[in-house]
Amino acid sequence: MAESKKHVSREIGLEIGHIAGKGLFKLEHLHYGLWKKGLEPEILNLHIAQDEYCKFIISHIPAEVKSILDVGCGAGAFSKKLADLGYKVDCVCPTEYQNKLVEERMGKTAEVFKCKFEEIQTNKKYDMVQFCESFQYIDLDRVIDIASRLLNPNGYILICDFFKKPVKVENGLKGGHKFDKFMEVMNKSPFKIIEDIDITAETAPNMDILDRATKEVMIPIAGAVDRFLMSRNPWITKLIKWKYRAKLQKAEKKYLFGNRTGKDFMETKTYRLFVCKKEK
Ligand SMILES: C[S@@+](CC[C@H](N)C(=O)[O-])C[C@H]1O[C@@H](n2cnc3c(N)ncnc32)[C@H](O)[C@@H]1O
Repeated sequence: MAESKKHVSREIGLEIGHIAGKGLFKLEHLHYGLWKKGLEPEILNLHIAQDEYCKFIISHIPAEVKSILDVGCGAGAFSKKLADLGYKVDCVCPTEYQNKLVEERMGKTAEVFKCKFEEIQTNKKYDMVQFCESFQYIDLDRVIDIASRLLNPNGYILICDFFKKPVKVENGLKGGHKFDKFMEVMNKSPFKIIEDIDITAETAPNMDILDRATKEVMIPIAGAVDRFLMSRNPWITKLIKWKYRAKLQKAEKKYLFGNRTGKDFMETKTYRLFVCKKEK
């Protein structure tokens, strides 16, 4: 699939996720959350896990940081939390739908760069550039140079996101830069990793929730819609199903029989918090 088509479907997926999450479960964020021991992994608890994730990140922001560029800020809920704590926060987001929400939430306090991080044009400098589950979407060959340019001397990059381990699983979970390649890029960069915390086990329960929601809610709904359409317009329905048969088979393989549980996540990904300091 061409990169722009992939980008559009990813963004629409995030938009649907946000509308459904907010409307049904009062979710403000678009990240996996941090599932502390004892918190039952079920969707009604996701807002608690997301709050824990924010607290966890906040507790790792270096003390000298006063200004933050929140890259891939989603609907801006975390940016707002940071602003309420007294940080000067600006946001980057390439999605029209999310930008509207961010502007409403942040008011005049923040500049919202309505573009991809790779396209940002500004002379402003920040103490920290942060990527909360957005790092995986940014061009790995360019991200360090661009972040470097946006930072004050001795500024920080904070990354909280998952990476791919060097294992291949059929119909497995997508997403994340290759961890080895990321480490290579960091080792050649002017940044020193000062914190590296593995939170894979605490983020993996999110995948069990998504897997269950797909199998127990989305697929049965799709089945019911199919039966309804077949009862009303069998020929048109059959024709559409035939036209998209390859895509439908792929989706079935992926969502019904794919390796998409928390256990699969732990085997194939590593979710890390990195705090990196600019040294040169
Ligand atoms: C999984 S969401 C995370 C949102 C938010 N940081 C949170 O934790 O709730 C990923 C975000 O990255 C944004 N994004 C995707 N590609 C991007 C790019 N090239 N530059 C900046 N942001 C991007 C998406 O629009 C979305 O807001």
